[in-house]
Formats: sequence, C-alpha cells, structure tokens
Amino acid sequence: MSKAYEIIDHEFDCVVVGAGGSGLRAAVGMVEAGLSVACVSKVYPTRSHTVAAQGGINAALGNMNEDDWRFHMYDTVKGSDWLGDQDAIEYMTKNAPAAVYELEHYGVPFSRTEAGEIYQRAFGGQSVEYGKSQAYRTCAAADRTGHVILHTLFQQALKNKVQFFNEYFALDLIMDDEGACRGIMAYCLEDGSIHRFRAHETVLATGGYGRVYFSATSAHTCTGDGNAMVLRAGLPLQDMEFVQFHPSGIYGAGCLITEGARGEGGYLTNSEGERFMERYAPSAKDLASRDVVSRAMTIEINESRGCGSEQAYIHLHLSHLDPAVLAQRLPGISETARIFAGVDVTKEPIPVVPTCHYNMGGVPTNHLTEMVVPANGSGDQVVEGLMAVGEAGCASVHGANRLGGNSLIDLVVFGRAAAHRAAETMVPNAPHKPLPADAGDAALARLDRVRHANGDSMTGAIRTEMQKTMQRYASVFRDGPTLEAGCKRLGEVSAMLGDLQINDRSMIWNSDLVEALELENLMVQALATIHSANYRTESRGAHARDDFPDRDDDEWLKHTLSWVDEKGAVTLGERGVHLFTLSNDVEPVAPQKRVY
Ligand code: FUM
Repeated sequence: MSKAYEIIDHEFDCVVVGAGGSGLRAAVGMVEAGLSVACVSKVYPTRSHTVAAQGGINAALGNMNEDDWRFHMYDTVKGSDWLGDQDAIEYMTKNAPAAVYELEHYGVPFSRTEAGEIYQRAFGGQSVEYGKSQAYRTCAAADRTGHVILHTLFQQALKNKVQFFNEYFALDLIMDDEGACRGIMAYCLEDGSIHRFRAHETVLATGGYGRVYFSATSAHTCTGDGNAMVLRAGLPLQDMEFVQFHPSGIYGAGCLITEGARGEGGYLTNSEGERFMERYAPSAKDLASRDVVSRAMTIEINESRGCGSEQAYIHLHLSHLDPAVLAQRLPGISETARIFAGVDVTKEPIPVVPTCHYNMGGVPTNHLTEMVVPANGSGDQVVEGLMAVGEAGCASVHGANRLGGNSLIDLVVFGRAAAHRAAETMVPNAPHKPLPADAGDAALARLDRVRHANGDSMTGAIRTEMQKTMQRYASVFRDGPTLEAGCKRLGEVSAMLGDLQINDRSMIWNSDLVEALELENLMVQALATIHSANYRTESRGAHARDDFPDRDDDEWLKHTLSWVDEKGAVTLGERGVHLFTLSNDVEPVAPQKRVY
C-alpha cells in the first residue's frame, strides 16, 4: 500500500460511481433490494448532466396515437444503423413503458394531455407501423424532462437512504489477480482525504466524454472518468468512433436547443430560405434521424449556403408557432436562445450548428449491464464485479446512432436492470474477498505523478489542443487522410501530458489537479475514438467517411473494441453484433437500407 497517503476504508455491497439518472436509479433499486450502496459523485447529484436533458424520454405508451414497443424497437434498430445489439434493444423498448410509469409514481411532473395522460411529442427517426408515419412517443415535462427526472430520482435516493459521497473524485478501479473488480479508489475534493471503497459490484454511471470536442452540448464535467478507469484497468471500450452531433447546438455557444423544437413544428432553413431537409429526407424531413440532419446541415454550410456573414450556421425557425405553445412546451429553450444567441424566438430564427452531443460508445455490457469482453473462441465473458449504465455503458442499444429521447429511457431501464441483476446475484452483507496487497497503489501513484507534475504545459492549453484536433480531424465527415493526420497529431498532443505543469499541489478544492486528472481521462478516450474511426472503413450511422460512403455489412457488421495503454498506444479488436432477440415476442430486424 502507498505510504504517502492515509487511506479511509469503506465496505458496501455495491458502489455506484456517478449520480445522474442511471446511477441514481441503480442505487435506489439496490437499496430497495436490501443491499448497502455507496453513491460516489464528483459533483453534487443535482448537478449531474442528466439535468440538461430537455426534450423527453421514449416509451410506447400510445397516449397520442396507437403505439407498440415493437415499433419503438424497429425504429431504434434502424436508427442504430443495425449496429445495436437487438437483445438489449428488445429489453429496453419492452421495459420502457413500465420504467416511465415508475418515474410517474416516483413523482416526475410530466406535462399532460387534455385527458390527463402523459404528454408525448414527435421526435426524430420515430415511426408507427414500421416506418409508415410519424410517432408521438417522447414523454415530456415541457423541455426540462431531464431536470425533473434527476431531481425526482435524487429525492427517492434520499428517501431510501442511499449513502452519498458527494464531490468525491473516483481515481481508479481496484482489480484483483483474477481480473475481477473489487471496488474503487476515490479522493474527497473538500478535504483531500483518500478513500478505498470495497464492493461486490461496482457500477460505472459516469456519463459520456463529450468534452473531447471543442464544441459540445455536454457540461465541462463530462469527461468519461469511468471509461478511462476501464482503459487503465487493461480492459477495452467499444464503438468509440460513434459520436453523435446534435443538429441544434447554438452557434458559438454550443448550448442545446431540443429536437423537441422541431417536434413541435420548428424547421431549418439555409441562407436561401430553403427548407433543405426536404431534399435530404423527403419523408421525415426535419425529423429525420440526427446523423442524417447533421450531415445535411454540414453539407449546406460547406457548399456556401450557411447563414450569417460567414455562412457558418443554419436557421431554426419557431416564430410561426403559437406563442402559447412556446411558453407551455418550450419555455427553457426560449430562454436559452435569448441568453446565448440574443434571439427572441417569437420573432427571429435561432442560429444553430451540429454540435457534439452524445457518445454511443463506452463500456461493453450485456443487457443485464454486466461488463463483457470477448472470450477466447466465441461468445462473451463477464468481468466479475463490474457493471456500466447510462452513457458510460454500451449495451449496445444505440449502435452507430442514438435516437433522441432514447438516452433518458436507457438511463432508467438499465439503471433498474443493474439493480435487479445485483439483487439476483448477491446476498446482502456477504464477506468481501481479500484485496491484492497492492490494491490502490497504482491509483495513488498516478495521483502523485499528476499532482507533482512540473513541466511547462498548462492543462488548459493541452486540453484546447486536444479538443481542436478532434473537432478538425474526427467530426461530422471523415476520410482516411484526415483521420491518419488526426491520429498523428493527437499522438503529439497526448505526448504533451509528459510536460504537464500543475501550479497548485494542495489536495483541497484543487481544480488545477482535478482538471489535469480529467484531461488524462479525456485523452485516452480521444485516442480510442480517432483510432477506431480510422479503423472502420465504411459509413454507418454517425460515422460518415467520404472515402467509404456506404455501409458495408459484409465487413463491418461488428463492434469495434479499443484498448489504450499508459503510453497512449491503441490496440483495436472486434466483437460480434447481437442480431437475435431475447424472446419470441419479436423477430430480429434484418439489415436494410436506411432511408427516412
Ligand atoms: O434534443 C433533445 O432534447 C435531446 C434529447 C436527447 O438527446 O435524447
């Protein structure tokens, strides 16, 4: 054990890392099952990024029109461009209505229809009758759905006496000699104390890593800390090349304007005033899948039909909508547009650009949320003691492209699944297996190395270089030469970490130290992302290559795995896509051409 730090030990049945929607839902379910649970979060729970989710949560409730979870499953498989694992997609879409009713009973104040039912709006890529007409499936609380879900789940967690360790930064997993996870190391930002959490099950609910890009809708805290912990444990991440660019981030600010704005009737135009989506997606138009809309917008801008003096953005129009609808259904984005774009949405269009929004890739799991790695031979092997949920996990229900509104449902369905699986596989308060003699040493050595870094490059400068490299070389459109150049440049930027400079060596409220630790976490994920993108020589979902414009199911109907070592070297591998379902209730959706 490290002698430099005094370690405070804790023992729980489960430790959940992250207190967003998925982490809280998992923690609540685990406590309800009689398990002891620590929830470790680097921010106060109500600051978790779930709070920023706007438009809604998908479930085939059928409150606005006829609906069926099988339609939801079909749309999700199609939206994933057939890279999603269909057993997991069946699980999510079938369990979605129960998960939403459960939220309602927990107290989520959903908007209501005239009949008093949960209000559901149109979102992109969603249909009834397998593509026949637009679905109204996205359950909404105005445009603050994530906010109310997060606050309600936090209240449930407090009621159930989940033990919170707020403003604790998770450093690393504790792995034993058999490759099982036995807990985590963390440090308390307030007093600098070091903590070792032993747990039978560690649940990573640490969210995405949107901040590897220069322009992102993600909070500054979205640094994918759990993903990086997995890489440092010598385990792989999956499908990291698939990064979602949301069509409507405010130009220059990156703030999200919900897809619900188009769901309520908003539309996009170019500098000629043309509703160009009619050319790209004649049927779904502005409500085509996000990857399709973001590519169309990028083409319009690249072909000099962008708006503004630099032709750099697209206009999103809402001024034709009834002001009462704007006030009732879209109050949050009306305010955001005023503050961040200086726009009165009742009179003027909002300037928007595709902006990094979501990471489809993450920790590979089965539909029970257990981490899996390919076994020698065939099939998957579960990594004992390690689960991942929410944006950190890759079950994979989103495949190559996520549908709007499927993120919030993923959080609660799989948060709940993690709790069910933990309850099935353990008895409360079972004795813990012995820890390896050096448990936690590597985490503390890294903390020490970063804390005493004495080079010449500031964290912010390296981070900006990384973000600009990713934005320039691995964005909406990609091609071989650009990705090759990007891999090389990112290697150079990554090497700058060896020259890191930390000015403040204290352990108490040291944002310099935390940002450096986060930067190390971001960098390994940036490397995994750009190398995976270079590896996949096809276009699928959000991964669009000019040099390989078509989907290639013969070669590439498989997940990408990526390992990144401590020197930043990336190794790539593959894992089969699950083209089967769990039950006889539904047939798998055979790959087809994806048109909207
Ligand atoms: O546009 C939105 O409201 C975002 C929703 C989502 O990403 O699921």
